[in-house]
Amino acid sequence: MPGSGQVLKNKQKRRVIVIVVVATAVVFGVLLIPYCIWKRKSLRDNMENNVMLDQNIEFQSEDIEVPSFSLATIVTATNNFSSDSKLGEGGFGLVYKGTLIDGHEIAVKRLSRSSIQGLNEFKNEVILIAKLQHRNLVRLLGYCIEGEEIILIYEYMPNGSLDSFIFDKTRAKVFDWSMRFNIICGIARGLLYLHEDSRLRIIHRDLKASNVLLDSKMNPKISDFGMARIFGGDQTEGNTNRVVGTYGYMAPEYAIDGLFSVKSDVYSFGILLLEILSGKKNRRSFHPSQGLNLVAYAWNLWKDDKPLELIDTCLEDNCILLEFVRCLRISFLCLQQHHEDRPNMSSVVMMLHGESSLPEPKEPTSLVGKKLSSSRKSQSPSTNEITVTLLEAR
Ligand SMILES: *[C@@H]1O[C@H](CO)[C@@H](O)[C@H](O)[C@H]1NC(C)=O
Ligand SMILES: *[C@@H]1O[C@H](CO)[C@@H](O)[C@H](O)[C@H]1NC(C)=O
Ligand SMILES: *[C@@H]1O[C@H](CO)[C@@H](O)[C@H](O)[C@H]1NC(C)=O
Repeated sequence: MPGSGQVLKNKQKRRVIVIVVVATAVVFGVLLIPYCIWKRKSLRDNMENNVMLDQNIEFQSEDIEVPSFSLATIVTATNNFSSDSKLGEGGFGLVYKGTLIDGHEIAVKRLSRSSIQGLNEFKNEVILIAKLQHRNLVRLLGYCIEGEEIILIYEYMPNGSLDSFIFDKTRAKVFDWSMRFNIICGIARGLLYLHEDSRLRIIHRDLKASNVLLDSKMNPKISDFGMARIFGGDQTEGNTNRVVGTYGYMAPEYAIDGLFSVKSDVYSFGILLLEILSGKKNRRSFHPSQGLNLVAYAWNLWKDDKPLELIDTCLEDNCILLEFVRCLRISFLCLQQHHEDRPNMSSVVMMLHGESSLPEPKEPTSLVGKKLSSSRKSQSPSTNEITVTLLEAR
């Protein structure tokens, strides 16, 4: 039967083909597994290498961002910290003006060693803070740690600090409304960056007129930001026993209970705003017997519908009243007693530019006595407001 022989032959052929295919597959499979493992490993190694490479790049650029200066350089630049080159006294140490050999002017802040806990933590903080860059923040250029010296080097601000313009009757005369409004907006933008836009979430905790510096074009730059981080690395809780800050600018929940949040900075901004508008300094007094402070004085005028009486006399002939009244209202919104009622800085910036309607402010906190504030002790700010040292996930 030739037909059936043919079929048998075909069957055998097919079986052979199947066997060959299966065998090939098995051999390949056996070979493939180690290949895959090897491939994966090499891929992983490669990735690890890449990551390492990235870290290296990052590390190098960090080094470039904050160079460490030698003490000899600083000593030469400041004429061995001569009293002639002294610019003033900041909250954390003396500040000197220096001139580098290439002619660059710098500001040198000499910190006290005893106030720094760990050198490595300090260095890390400096590297992080140097990454914060905004046109309304004073730029940190470098640092120096040598022997007993711990020094921070900043860009030099030729026009000094804001308080020397607001509270000085002769300088206040050149300090016209457009300058003031530009400065108000700049401070607000700088603070917004610290609170919301930067990689680190920073609560300044000592915002005041003397911590706002002016560049050669009278642009405001906030200084001493991050000092709370540098000096209080352990404070992640938003509750501190060591209250830094300046009376007169401190929100009541911070001054009394040690609770700080972005909203306590907003309060300080409100005070600063009031000072820029009025040319008067706020002195906090919780006791009515000590006379009215600036907040109470301004609020009384506002309530009596006479807000224009608050205008700094140096400003009277060049003030844009619409902007003035808007700023005053924003200031009262920032000064409200309950921190949750105060606007955040992004709202403040929008309100300053008239892009957002302004609510009616409630009575500011300084008129309410200490007792009332203390009774709110149990209510602490919500956790997302009080993160001070947490790295914010991008
Ligand atoms: C700088 O002044 C200190 C004491 O004030 C002195 O000990 C030191 O030798 C001076 N350094 C230089 C380089 O003049
Ligand atoms: C600010 O500083 C610059 C450069 O030093 C100077 O020309 C200018 O007059 C200063 N502005 C005021 C208002 O003092
Ligand atoms: C700021 O406040 C506005 C208005 O209350 C709110 O819509 C916005 O989410 C707040 N922004 C942040 C970052 O909390």
